[in-house]
Amino acid sequence: MKRRFVGTLTPQDIGQRVLLKAWVHRRRDLGGMMFLDLRDRSGLVQAVVYPDTDVEAHAALDPVRAEWVVEVEGDVLARDAANVNLEKATGAIEVRVERAVVLTQAETPPFVLESYAEASEELRLRYRYLDLRRPELARNFVLRHRIVSATRQYLEANEFLELETPILTRSTPEGARDYLVPSREAPCQFYALPQSPQLFKQLLMMSGFERYYQMARCFRDEDLRADRQPEFTQVDLELSFTDENEIIGLIEGLFAKIFPMAGIEIETPFPRLSYHEAMARYGSDRPDTRFGLEIEDLSEILGQSGFRGFQAAVEGGGVIRGFVVPDAANASRKQVDEWVAIARRAGAQGVLTLRHRDGELQFQVKKALAESELKQAAQQLGLEEGGLSLLVAGPEATVARALGALRLELARAYELIPQDRHAFLWVQEFPLVDGNDEDGWDALHHPFTSPDPRDLELIATDPGRVRSRAYDVVMDGIELGGGSIRIHDSDLQRRVFDLLGIGVEEAESRFGFLLEALKYGPPPHGGIALGLDRLIMLMSGAQSIRDVILFPKTTSASCLLTEAPSAVDDRQLEELGIECRRRAGTDG
Ligand code: AMO
Repeated sequence: MKRRFVGTLTPQDIGQRVLLKAWVHRRRDLGGMMFLDLRDRSGLVQAVVYPDTDVEAHAALDPVRAEWVVEVEGDVLARDAANVNLEKATGAIEVRVERAVVLTQAETPPFVLESYAEASEELRLRYRYLDLRRPELARNFVLRHRIVSATRQYLEANEFLELETPILTRSTPEGARDYLVPSREAPCQFYALPQSPQLFKQLLMMSGFERYYQMARCFRDEDLRADRQPEFTQVDLELSFTDENEIIGLIEGLFAKIFPMAGIEIETPFPRLSYHEAMARYGSDRPDTRFGLEIEDLSEILGQSGFRGFQAAVEGGGVIRGFVVPDAANASRKQVDEWVAIARRAGAQGVLTLRHRDGELQFQVKKALAESELKQAAQQLGLEEGGLSLLVAGPEATVARALGALRLELARAYELIPQDRHAFLWVQEFPLVDGNDEDGWDALHHPFTSPDPRDLELIATDPGRVRSRAYDVVMDGIELGGGSIRIHDSDLQRRVFDLLGIGVEEAESRFGFLLEALKYGPPPHGGIALGLDRLIMLMSGAQSIRDVILFPKTTSASCLLTEAPSAVDDRQLEELGIECRRRAGTDG
């Protein structure tokens, strides 16, 4: 008899004899009758074993406990009306076991799969293979498989070829530290694991493949957060003879196909914001637009006011901005102190409150602003009775960062983020470069991103104002993907390296092969990479990226299951010509 997956059984199977092979999820005994919830990849079903009529099966199953693996055979029956469980897919039926074999036994697992929340995440990661037996977690990986499969179909229908690029390679600059692999053949030399396939995918365009994609594993040694892992997967693509609009359209088409598979309907095209607009209105280059709290500029209204802090900010070339939280006029001193701390962490001097309470406008610093200034400010902000507004003054970038952080914090604190809605958007016109601490410039995206042709002259005169041809796709305040139209001209590439302080020699030694390839007829090209893990995290509603990665790393980048990273044999080190020095204060 062919084995059936337990979760596929339905009332249509009533009267059928079935063969099941599954784990015992839970066991209950009631007046001699044994009830087993049987679990396999497809779900759960209830099995009953009658002690009087099915004596042998009952005896075979008598010792079973949770997580034993059994094979059972019997008829599908309708449950008594009183026992029907409509919440479960198989809740209207049960299987009466007439024959049973124990396939394997299990020790008591270190945590109960059903009440996993009581187990620490550390314990669950240590026994990840057991954690993965939980249907709620396993479901994320089934979704992940379906999305990857649909993405492949979509890209293939759009003439993309799936090609694989090397993992043992040279450093690719994406702004993080590299993971290095020592070479045995060439002592003191190292491969770098790719931070992305960026250089290779550009080379593939130069080879004439026209449209490439890859489910690319990327490695970045950076501080970990809820949406970051050291090892993650990109849906990475590159195409020749293209432009921003084509790439944006392709990704919107993909999302329109895959998001509904997770029950999320989306509307395309997505809104597009320039980087400047995103920073000015939301204080972030990946704004969460599921809620309002939009930032308004008050520099003109308050820059000339009698309040010294505001004057100084505007005279110094800075801005005064703020936003309104409705119904928050009674925020406590303690809350305001917390917000001040958030603003300070973002580099601002602090936050000032303006409340509309009891029919009056109350600025935190009494009498510092004239009534007419308060009225104008309130009008610009849209501040109404019962509302609170938070104001920050200072350099534009700092103010944006502080208000961006506060906007998110207040939206959370006042529960203004709708959980049943999603907001997608594109951010474009990023600056090409960002000033660094050494008075130089760093690439905001990566050094191969094309400057906007309208701003080429500014490269020499005012680099900070050069816009790039980069674009990011954002969902609910999380960056899902980013890409750009690339430089396909070796002179321009050299000029950009020059701006980034990458001298001729360094450029030659790090990217000489790319500069050379640019000499031999490179097509105009561009691409994008989507963070697959983040995509699945948002689609499945998981709280952490760890819930959509089979064997994730902890925030200190270790794998608790395999205990990687680990020490290696002295002999291995010797072969590699490596001598280890322990850093003071570390063990192992
Ligand atoms: P970028 O660095 O923006 O672009 O990466 C693309 C997307 O990858 C995801 N991502 C991550 N996901 C999990 N953990 C991480 N540590 C992590 N880092 C990045 C994000 C991000 O949007 N080569 C360019 C793409 C291009 O220009 O085509 C690149 O890698 O969702």
